[in-house]
Amino acid sequence: MEIRPMTIADYDEVFAMWQITSKRALSQADEKSQIERYLLRNNGMSHVAVIDGKIVGTVLAGHDGRRGFIHHMAVLPEYRRRHIGHKLAEKAVEKIAADGIDKTHIFCYQTNEAGQKFWSDFGFEKRDDVFVFSFNNKE
Ligand SMILES: CC(C)(COP(=O)(O)OP(=O)(O)OC[C@H]1O[C@@H](n2cnc3c(N)ncnc32)[C@H](O)[C@@H]1OP(=O)(O)O)[C@@H](O)C(=O)NCCC(=O)NCCS
Repeated sequence: MEIRPMTIADYDEVFAMWQITSKRALSQADEKSQIERYLLRNNGMSHVAVIDGKIVGTVLAGHDGRRGFIHHMAVLPEYRRRHIGHKLAEKAVEKIAADGIDKTHIFCYQTNEAGQKFWSDFGFEKRDDVFVFSFNNKE
């Protein structure tokens, strides 16, 4: 298995993978132009896991200059529980830390028990003292 930086050339394969792994989390922000902008703004920080030339896992990592954020941590179902996700998450926090950012946040649906267990077991602290508020300037 190889873990390498994601490029926009990976987009079609990655987006097809997300249809399987992350459909509920997908939005307009995942259109090609938006992902291209994200990769440029967070150069070299997002990664894919590749086995026999096939992308089997992804992690988008970046920061806003203050806090790190990880999105679309995903592994294809048939490749799960082989620590591929763990290695991708390690790469993400390593890249964020290398930019001098101390704390990283992830968003996880309350109903996603496997996702919560994954992040807790990795070492992320589940917060009960914070709500996420979102504002959509197109609505
Ligand atoms: C969450 C996800 C990325 C985990 O990927 P993975 O490659 O299977 O995870 P790993 O093999 O690296 O797991 C590392 C550890 O996390 C925990 N873990 C991972 N998946 C788990 C599950 N389904 N149930 C309980 N614990 C789990 C375990 O402690 C595991 O270590 P172990 O296998 O030695 O017990 C994968 O299940 C996935 O793509 N899910 C759909 C997308 C998603 O929900 N992403 C997270 C959004 S918040």
